[in-house]
This record gives sequence, C-alpha cells and structure tokens, in this order.
Amino acid sequence: MSKLPVITIDGPSGVGKGTISQLLARHLDWHFLDSGALYRLTALAARRRGIALEDSEAVGLLAAELAVRFEPVAQGEARVILDNQEVTNDIRTAQAGVDASVVAVHPSVRAALLQRQRDFAQPPGLVADGRDMGTTVFPQAQRKFFLTASARVRAERRYKQLIEKGLDANLAGLVEEIEQRDERDRNRSASPLRPADDAICIDTSEKGIEAVFAEVLAHCQDVVI
Ligand code: DC
Repeated sequence: MSKLPVITIDGPSGVGKGTISQLLARHLDWHFLDSGALYRLTALAARRRGIALEDSEAVGLLAAELAVRFEPVAQGEARVILDNQEVTNDIRTAQAGVDASVVAVHPSVRAALLQRQRDFAQPPGLVADGRDMGTTVFPQAQRKFFLTASARVRAERRYKQLIEKGLDANLAGLVEEIEQRDERDRNRSASPLRPADDAICIDTSEKGIEAVFAEVLAHCQDVVI
C-alpha cells in the first residue's frame, strides 16, 4: 500500500463515527469512505432483485457488480446513486442497516467490496469510516481510532438522526436492534468488529461531537502536517 495518508475510524453502530469522519474529512479536505453505505447498498440491491440476503454466492456476485456513484454535495451527506437511481434515504432506514449487517457476514461480499473500498484512497488523503477499516481494509493506516458508547446512548442518537430526517423510529426497538447488530458484527468470522491493536479507543458516551472531534484531531496532528 502507498504512503498516502489514511485515517480510519471504526466502531459499532450509532457511535457517531459517521459524523466525526465526515467532519474530519471536510476539515482536512480529504476524501471520505462511508464503507457501511456499500454494505447497505448491497443489501438494498439484493432486496430489489429478489435475491435472498442469506444467499452468499448470489449476494457476493451482486456486490462485485454494484453500479454505484457517490456525488458529493456542498454540505451534508453525499448523494448515493444505485443503478442510476437516487437511494440516499433508502439506504439510511433502520431496515437497511439490519439488512446490511446480514449481508456483511458473507466472506464473498467482504471480498467483493475490498478493492472498491481501497480505491477511495486518493490524494491528498482518506478518512475511512466502518467496522474493519483499521484491521482489514487499511491495516497500514497512519492513525486508527475505535469509538465506543453504550447501546442505550447509541440508540438515542440514532433515534434523533432518523427523526430529523423525517424517517420512522422507535427507541425501544432501536436499542434491541443495536444490541443484535453489535452481536452479529462482533461475532462473525470474517473481519469481526474489533479495535486494531494500534487503534486509539475513545468512549464517546459522555462526550459531545465537538469534544470527540477535538480529541481525534489532536491525535492526528503529526499525520496531517
Ligand atoms: O456503519 P453502518 O451502520 O452504515 O453499517 C451497516 C452495517 O454494515 C453494519 O451493521 C455492518 C456492516 N459493515 C461492515 O460489516 N463493515 C464495515 N466496514 C462497515 C459496515
């Protein structure tokens, strides 16, 4: 892998890594990889084509051929286009998140998405957000973070995000769903959710976005000179 600077931010669902990663990418004017979006897109494409999420071979082939574009916008999240159709909101539903963690179990899917994720590493640098960015996709990253927070705190944050986007949400259901998703993400055999040995771990339960961002940035000074 090249010397191109890469900063990875991993952690469980709803921990705030998306927000922190995007803030960091914008602050540095670097590229941004939302790897979860690729798993969400794979699951959405499978559902739309009537392919069972458990069918590892068919879903793996689908992941390899995914016709997807990310179109940056001035503020906020990039527009996501699948098969020439905008799916920005469709991949953000609670169901799409659960579906993503089901297809993410298949080694065929993870292998198909590996190079696609590495291709995001372009000058001047990349901030990569996910579950296995520091362990599998960018093991040579110059700086690795692993964010954590209690399931309850994460469910409350996700609830707020969904409501703000005008989507349906149920707090008790979200806590349960987050716990189940954690369980699946941590216990799968291919690239399970875990901190890289050289990751800096930050518990965000009691911290606001600004505080976490400041902490992350302080740890990146020597990487981004
Ligand atoms: O970050 P997210 O909520 O968009 O991710 C959705 C699911 O995708 C997550 O539950 C597991 C899977 N995922 C993964 O296995 N590896 C990644 N690098 C990113 C996401």
